[in-house]
Amino acid sequence: MTGHVTGQTQENKRLRSVVKGVGSALPRRCVTNRELEKEVETSDEWIVQRTGITQRYIAGEGETTSTLGAAAARAALAKANLAPEDIDLIICATSTPDYTFPSVATMIQAELGVTGGVAFDLQAVCAGFVFAVATADKFLTSGSHKRALVIGAETFSRIMDWSDRTTCVLFGDGAGALVLEAQEGTGANADRGVLTSHLRSDGRHRAKLYVDGGPSTTGTAGHLRMEGKEVFRFAVGHVTDVMTDSFAATGLTADDLDWFVPHQANQRIIDASAQKLHIAPHKVVKTVQSHGNTSAASIPLALAVACEDGRIKPGDLVMIEAIGGGFAWGAALIRW
Ligand code: ACO
Repeated sequence: MTGHVTGQTQENKRLRSVVKGVGSALPRRCVTNRELEKEVETSDEWIVQRTGITQRYIAGEGETTSTLGAAAARAALAKANLAPEDIDLIICATSTPDYTFPSVATMIQAELGVTGGVAFDLQAVCAGFVFAVATADKFLTSGSHKRALVIGAETFSRIMDWSDRTTCVLFGDGAGALVLEAQEGTGANADRGVLTSHLRSDGRHRAKLYVDGGPSTTGTAGHLRMEGKEVFRFAVGHVTDVMTDSFAATGLTADDLDWFVPHQANQRIIDASAQKLHIAPHKVVKTVQSHGNTSAASIPLALAVACEDGRIKPGDLVMIEAIGGGFAWGAALIRW
């Protein structure tokens, strides 16, 4: 077994990080595959067949990672019926910050008018949101903080090499946010909240998915580079270990899941991962077709869609899972 185990099967009073609200925000401009065909040597057919993506949203003037993140955070607070002053922890998962510093989380903190508590960014690329949920869970269940905004926000369009058709058709921009609140549970799997989380990383895979610039090397933001086939192979071959660990830690199984909400990179990766773990297709939430790959924002964007349309309901068992550059990967089981 790998990763850090926070789940328990025996009855044992303990704090849980319970979902109070979810929100999302997308840029104004939606770009369909057909529109991309005019600027990039590609076709709607190629993109749909290889990835399932039909459109993505691209940030325009005045739209940045922090503005999208703040909008998603506001929407999540509204759903939770909470005010900015109720929040004492803000974690923003992003690899595309507005600036090298300060953190996007502190910019969102200021934008919302939160003056107490702590705010920081977390970078685990596409796995960032799962890492952020796991991190917030440690803070909340330790009793040090009461309510967290966990945000995934990205503007990957700004680190695309738009002359590289093998990458630029895959990504999009957006943000999603969860409000988590520390509440007392019984320690059983029936508790609402994060039941368990498992994180992994292996830095030997850097060259398969990286950005070719940064403050300490080129002094530029750089562009995303990817060996697509290698990423695909690793994602399908390895990411399921953290899901298996989540089941082992709780004694729950794929049959117990109500919803599987994976990172939305590629429909074929999602289908292959679900199939490998015998998760029934009707339990898989997919938004990659309409958002593209929004990196750390993809899971909270998908959660927002599935909550909004009534699929995810209180009491449902939800598994989130993602893999990203590094590689870094993780999974968490959440009783909604
Ligand atoms: N439009 C048209 N043709 C294209 C395009 C495009 N946008 N991109 C590549 N091609 C061509 C290639 O040039 C190649 O042509 P050739 O045979 O004449 O040389 C052909 O299509 C096949 O290219 P491959 O790279 O072999 O395509 P593949 O079937 O591997 O699909 C893809 C590429 C979709 C990137 C796939 O490898 C994949 O899904 N990888 C996973 C990567 C991923 O999703 N990463 C997301 C980021 S990481 C993460 O979030 C976990």
